[in-house]
Amino acid sequence: VRLALVGFGNVGRRFVELLRGPYGRILRRAGVHVRVTGIATARHGSAIDARGLSLSRCLKARSLQALHTGRPVASSLDFMRRVPADVLLELTTLDPRGGQPAIGHVRAGLRRGLHVITANKGPAACGLRSLLTLARKKRRRFLFEGAVMDGTPVFNLVARCLPGVRVLGFRGMLNTTTARILSGMEKGTSFAAALREMQDAGIAEADPANDIEGWDAAAKGCAIANALMDANTRPSQVERVGIAEVTPDDVRAALRMRNKIRLIVRGEREGRRVRVSVAPEALPQDDVLVAADQDGVLILETDLMGEIGILEGPSGVDQTAYALLSDLMAIAAERD
Ligand SMILES: NC(=O)c1ccc[n+]([C@@H]2O[C@H](COP(=O)([O-])OP(=O)(O)OC[C@H]3O[C@@H](n4cnc5c(N)ncnc54)[C@H](OP(=O)(O)O)[C@@H]3O)[C@@H](O)[C@H]2O)c1
Repeated sequence: VRLALVGFGNVGRRFVELLRGPYGRILRRAGVHVRVTGIATARHGSAIDARGLSLSRCLKARSLQALHTGRPVASSLDFMRRVPADVLLELTTLDPRGGQPAIGHVRAGLRRGLHVITANKGPAACGLRSLLTLARKKRRRFLFEGAVMDGTPVFNLVARCLPGVRVLGFRGMLNTTTARILSGMEKGTSFAAALREMQDAGIAEADPANDIEGWDAAAKGCAIANALMDANTRPSQVERVGIAEVTPDDVRAALRMRNKIRLIVRGEREGRRVRVSVAPEALPQDDVLVAADQDGVLILETDLMGEIGILEGPSGVDQTAYALLSDLMAIAAERD
C-alpha cells in the first residue's frame, strides 16, 4: 500500500514514528506492506519519491524539499495530482468554519481514485454528504475515525457493531482541551497555565480559539450528526457558546453545589433537521458525562439499543495516530 500524507505536524509525524515501529509490525503481520511515497506540508516543503521516502530522514529534515525527486511540487493540489499512491492521509490544520483546505484535499484524492483517511473533522463536519457520494461513485473509502474522540471507536463502532440501529440523538463532552482547562481550574490552576499545558502536549488546536470558543466541539457535533444521523448540518449553524467567559468563581460556585462545569455538545432531531448545540453546562458530579473525569465521553441515544456510552481515557497524539492505523487496516482488509 502506497501512502501519501498531506500535513506532517503532531499527528502526521507521530503516525510515521509509529509506522517505523509497532504499526509497521502490526501491518506486516496482517500482510500489508506500506511505503510512504509522498508528504506535503504548507511551509516545510514537500517530497515525492515513488520508491518510498526514508522515514527517518523525513522526521529529521527541517524541510522535506531535500528528499524530493523530480519536478518541484508547486502546491498541495499539484502534490495530490502527482503523488503515486493508493491511500491519502489528510492531516492538515483544522478550519472548523469551512473545512478547507481539507475538503479540497479529500475531494482531489477521491477524484484521483485514492482511498482517503483523515483525522481532520472539517470534511465530516462541513461536507460529508457530497464526499461520501463521490467516494461511492469512485468505489473508494473515505474514513475519518480520528475526527471525534481520537482513536476511540465511534463511527467504526456504529458501522461495524450496530447494524440496523438508528441513532436518535447524542450528548457528549468531546473537547479535551476545555475539559482539562476546567478541571485544572477546579484544582486552582489558572486558565492560561492549563491551556499552555495542552499546547505543549500538542493537544490544543493550532489556533486554541477553536477549542475555547467551542468551534472544535461544534465541528465534532456536526461530524456525529452528519455521519450517524444522516444530517446535513455545519458548524456555522450550531448554537455555540464557548468557555472564555467561565471564571474561577463560576467553577468554585459549581463545585460548592456538587456540580462540574464542562463544555457539552448535544444533538437532537427537530422535525426533519438535527439541531446541534454547544455550551458550558453545570452538571451534577455523578452525571455520566463528568463523573469519571474522562477526556471524552459520548452518549448515543438509539432506537433498538437504548443509550450506549463511549468513554475515552487519557487522550493524546498517540490515540489519534491509532485512528489512522485502524482506518488503514480496514481499507487494507477490503482490498484482499
Ligand atoms: N493533535 C491532536 O491530538 C489531534 C486529535 C484529533 C484530531 N486532530 C486533527 O488532526 C489534524 C492535524 O493535527 P496536528 O495536531 O497534526 O496539526 P499541526 O501540528 O498543526 O500540523 C498541521 C500540518 O498541516 C500542514 N498544512 C496546513 N495547511 C496545509 C496545506 N494547505 N497544504 C499542505 N499542508 C498543510 C502543516 O504544514 P507546516 O508544517 O508547513 O505548517 C502541518 O504540517 C487537525 O485537523 C486536527 O484537528 C488532531
